[in-house]
Amino acid sequence: MSEPITKQSVIANYLPTVVAPVADHIDAVFAPSNIALCKYWGKRDVELNLPINSSLSISLAHLGSNTAISVSDEDQVWLNGQRVAADDKFARKVIAFIELFRGPNGLPVKVDTQNNIPTAAGLASSASGFAALMLAIDGFYGLQLEPALLSAFARMGSGSASRSLYQGFVEWQMGVQEDGMDSIALPLANRWDSLRIGLVKVNIAEKAVDSRSGMNRTVATAHLYQSWPLQAAADLERLHQAIADNNFTLLGETAEQNALSMHATMIAAWPPLLYWQPDSVAAMQTIWQARAAGVEVYFTMDAGPNIKLLFTADSEAAVKQYFPDLDVIAPFG
Ligand code: PMV
Repeated sequence: MSEPITKQSVIANYLPTVVAPVADHIDAVFAPSNIALCKYWGKRDVELNLPINSSLSISLAHLGSNTAISVSDEDQVWLNGQRVAADDKFARKVIAFIELFRGPNGLPVKVDTQNNIPTAAGLASSASGFAALMLAIDGFYGLQLEPALLSAFARMGSGSASRSLYQGFVEWQMGVQEDGMDSIALPLANRWDSLRIGLVKVNIAEKAVDSRSGMNRTVATAHLYQSWPLQAAADLERLHQAIADNNFTLLGETAEQNALSMHATMIAAWPPLLYWQPDSVAAMQTIWQARAAGVEVYFTMDAGPNIKLLFTADSEAAVKQYFPDLDVIAPFG
């Protein structure tokens, strides 16, 4: 019987025999956060983070993670200027990821990450975090990996990180290979300069159930999940159409229905998973009211209580009448 495929065994196929730092430090490298318009929800392989469906996201321009790595006398992880305890879940994940490349006995390092988005609030900081970490590892160890490999390896840290290697619209193709090396993200050439994303912060505290456990629980226990792959495939096609035609109504409707369908599968899991808080629902009602009054605004949500609005530049003033404190991002600069 053949050995089970692990992250380590897949990555080892692409690394030089000796992996060592090429400098005593590298300056911080940046990767943007991203928000999926068609969500990644459910894995066909939990070890390698191989998805059951392809997904499509939009990156958040300057919002994301900056990560530097330097040689150190012991492994240490810093987040937003503070040292994280070595036994903390975040620090363990970061060091475990680095070990995939340098090995368990490699030289100790200091990893320093600055996020300019709230961590673990459903604003996808794990996506930008692992993408920036992957780029930092590539530079620090002089690996010079090509983009497809960077995306595949970042995916092993966090699925959505595969998409955070690029700006703009990004599609993560699910792939079919057992080792997942065709499960990579690629940028779309299309721009949409007038597109805007608004962040409605409901709660930025760390969430109780992370997306990894949430999706595994949903796949394992929700009968409703069976309809998800079909929904996602249809939505992906609609989004490609919307982007090709600059059809904002189609883009917004598809993204909102996709997000709500994903949340429906979570609610149908056992124990049930409801990331919504009263203020999340209040924001949805406000969005629907605004639409009924003729303002073209839609929303999407990840595995958290916060709402991301989708609208175009010409509606910004009208949207702000409903959401006065809105943080607005122009993903295409
Ligand atoms: O990459 P993860 O394991 O944090 O999963 C992200 C899942 C969603 O944010 C809910 C959807 C997505 O496609 O980003």
